[in-house]
Amino acid sequence: MTEQKNTFAGQKRKTVESAEFTEDGRYKRKVRSFVLRTGRLSEYQRQMMNDNWANYGVDYQDELFDFAKIYGNSHPVVLEIGFGMGKSLVEMAAQHPDRNYLGIEVHTPGVGACLAYALEKGVKNLRVMCHDATEVLRDCIAENSLGGLQLFFPDPWQKAKHHKRRIVQPAFVETVAKKLQTGGFIHFATDWGNYAEHMLGVLQSVQSAVGIRNVSITNDYIERPDFRPLTKFEQRGHKLGHRVWDLYFIKE
Ligand SMILES: C[S@@+](CC[C@H](N)C(=O)[O-])C[C@H]1O[C@@H](n2cnc3c(N)ncnc32)[C@H](O)[C@@H]1O
Repeated sequence: MTEQKNTFAGQKRKTVESAEFTEDGRYKRKVRSFVLRTGRLSEYQRQMMNDNWANYGVDYQDELFDFAKIYGNSHPVVLEIGFGMGKSLVEMAAQHPDRNYLGIEVHTPGVGACLAYALEKGVKNLRVMCHDATEVLRDCIAENSLGGLQLFFPDPWQKAKHHKRRIVQPAFVETVAKKLQTGGFIHFATDWGNYAEHMLGVLQSVQSAVGIRNVSITNDYIERPDFRPLTKFEQRGHKLGHRVWDLYFIKE
C-alpha cells in the first residue's frame, strides 16, 4: 500500500471519485455503482500506467473535454463505461479506426491491462480514464458530443436492497441521451435476466422524453451483434450457461 501511494498508478487508485460536500461543508456520501476491489496491480500494469498515461490517459477535470484536442481529429467518440480488463474495448478500437474510443474504468489493474493491450495492438484512437464514469459524464462531456455509449456487463447488484446501486437508472439514461449526438447509440448488454428487464424498463420509461428509439424489431432486445467482441465477463457467463441480452437504442 505505502509503495502504491508513491506512484502515479497508486495515486489514481485513490482519486477514482471526487469528494462532494453539502452546502454546510459536510462530506456527502454517494450511492456508487462499484466497490473498489483490492485486486493487486501487477508491476507490469503499474509500469504501463506510469509510462503511458501521457499518451493514453485522460484525467478527470471539472470542465468539458475538447475531443478534437484529445484525439487530434473530429471522428465520433464512443464512450465505454466499465471496460474491465479492456480486451474487447481495444479490439473494437482496432476494428473502427474511423471512431475514437474513451474507456472509463475504476479498477486500476484493468486500466493497466487495457493500456498494455492497446500498446500491443498499436491502436491510436483510444484513451482511458480511471474515475467514476457517472462523474465524468456529468462534468466533462458536452451535450450532443458523443457518437455512442456502451456499457457491457455492468455489475448486476443482484439483491433487491442493492438495486439502487445499478448504474442504469432513469437519471443516468437521461444524462447519456443529452450527451449523445443525433443518431448516436446506447448499447447495453447483460447476462443477468433481472437486470436486462430493469434496463429495458428504464429505457422505455424515459425514451419519449429524451428522444431515443429502440431498434429491436420486437421492441425489447436485439440479437447479439457480431461487432461486439466477447468480453471477459460474458465468457465467464457462457461457462456458467448464462444467456445474454443486448439492448440498442438510437437518439433521434
Ligand atoms: C462486471 S464488470 C464487467 C467488465 C467488462 N465490461 C466485461 O464485460 O468483462 C463491471 C466493471 O464496471 C466497473 N465500474 C462499475 N461502476 C463504474 C463506474 N461508475 N465508473 C467506471 N467503472 C465502473 C467495475 O470496476 C467493473 O470492472
